[in-house]
Amino acid sequence: MRKKIIAGNWKMNKSFEEGMALVTEIIGMVKDEYQGSAEVVIIPPFIHLNAINRMVAEINNISSGAQNCSNHESGAYTGEISAGMIKSIGAEYVIVGHSERRQYFGEHNDWLAKKIDAVIKNNLTPIYCVGETLDERENNKHFEILKQQISEGIFHLGADEIKKVVIAYEPVWAIGTGKTATTAQAQEVHAYIRTLIATHYNTDIAAAITIQYGGSVKPENAAELFASPDIDGALVGGAALQSRSFVDIIKAMK
Ligand code: 13P
Repeated sequence: MRKKIIAGNWKMNKSFEEGMALVTEIIGMVKDEYQGSAEVVIIPPFIHLNAINRMVAEINNISSGAQNCSNHESGAYTGEISAGMIKSIGAEYVIVGHSERRQYFGEHNDWLAKKIDAVIKNNLTPIYCVGETLDERENNKHFEILKQQISEGIFHLGADEIKKVVIAYEPVWAIGTGKTATTAQAQEVHAYIRTLIATHYNTDIAAAITIQYGGSVKPENAAELFASPDIDGALVGGAALQSRSFVDIIKAMK
């Protein structure tokens, strides 16, 4: 059975002190309240990551990850952080191609394919984000865009490598807007992504890949989303900034 993953992407939020307090609360609440099988991933800003990883390292069902990484291994790239550095502190996941990086930092599929390679080469798990804009959905272009993002970003990988990838479907129009995709809309896209993988690789590989949904996930809508057959967890933004709402989302995954 494929892994269920609930990840909290803090984006550029929380001072160091606030971040430590939030993780302490999350650890305590998950220990006390969660008996399910999902893996919880905390994805804070880089500057908090080492300390947070130390806090969760010994906890079975909680791990940590980075929001981005360089596509280069090392060298004169001021301000960048390599996948090797992320690995060296013990973090396990890296978000690649979040829509905010595509939109505000000009990251394109060919560039992201190189980041995916760097992440996999360093034995980390990429969370590869895909999703259409409102304009693309309204013009019925979403399947085409998703196919392009998936094929250009990850279909160069071999069968053994693709199994290591987690995909997050995050419709841009649902991120931070309070507008969640309906469960039917999300399920339709998740099933479509799984079909793309089955066609390019095979059905066993497609069945094994975790596909998370992201975009205004809240305690109120999480259980319904998670009940869909192809939705294997969530990449949570705003609601991951408070322990109560984040843990309630985790608890919605049985
Ligand atoms: P929100 O949950 O705030 O909509 O953000 C989703 C997201 O972008 C997670 O990566």
